[in-house]
Amino acid sequence: MSTDQILCETSEGILTLRINRPDKKNALNLAMYQALADGLKKADSDDAVRVILISGGGECFTSGNDLADFLSAPPIGPESPVMQFLIAISGARKPIVAAVNGLAVGVGVTMLLHCDLVYIGKSATFQMPFVNLGLCPEAGSTLLLPRIMGHQRAAELLLLGEVFSAETACSLGIATEICPDGDVLATARNRALQLAAQPAAGVRLAKDLLKREYAPRLRETIAEEGVQFMARLKSPEATEALQAFMQRRKPDFSKFN
Ligand code: COA
Repeated sequence: MSTDQILCETSEGILTLRINRPDKKNALNLAMYQALADGLKKADSDDAVRVILISGGGECFTSGNDLADFLSAPPIGPESPVMQFLIAISGARKPIVAAVNGLAVGVGVTMLLHCDLVYIGKSATFQMPFVNLGLCPEAGSTLLLPRIMGHQRAAELLLLGEVFSAETACSLGIATEICPDGDVLATARNRALQLAAQPAAGVRLAKDLLKREYAPRLRETIAEEGVQFMARLKSPEATEALQAFMQRRKPDFSKFN
């Protein structure tokens, strides 16, 4: 499965993975998840890569999973491209830097929890509307968000699924630094270059030690959430939410208990 909707380039020790589907707000389809997973896996065994940089270009990070795919080609097990991507990004040994401009929705936010340095534009917006779509949180977010910000703040973001600002994302610990919108990519690239110049084995060991306490539980959580998420995709609530998105109307959940 190859796609030009994920652009991969290695230079100066940095593998850049750029999400490139602007007509669909960089929504991630199966081929894109697979390309991201493949890129991340290859990076871990390629000595030419010392740092991974994930971006969505200057306009939009990603609007999350392709909602049409949820209806036509839902993930069905641990081998599905989305699960492969989550396993790869959560288990990556090399440092990951993210550059976020514009929208980050759904997995566009939860993938940031697996990045080490996250630079975001001043006008970037964030949203995790899993519950709003009749689904449940994924990507280990039910473990990582409360760990970063406490239960109540995580619950507000996940249960209400509202849009939040760059300032909120940074103050809650989801991002490292807010930059002027036009400087995000350059700032992230400079930080990635700085990381690439560090002793690589030392960087890898520090990352491993930072995550060692919760890494086993994280793998289990991603798997458990994945099972629940896949089951929820068949629920009447999710069917209503996804059809409402396609029909450009508000969903009506009043008939479900
Ligand atoms: N999956 C599939 N298509 C998507 C998409 C997604 N996640 N996000 C955006 N698109 C498509 C739209 O259907 C539209 O396609 P069209 O031009 O063929 O009609 C195009 O991208 C532009 O999106 P649009 O909704 O017109 O842009 P907007 O600026 O008004 O709104 C969003 C952007 C992201 C707020 C809105 O598209 C949205 O809510 N998308 C769904 C996000 C989501 O729920 N993600 C999954 C989380 S689990």
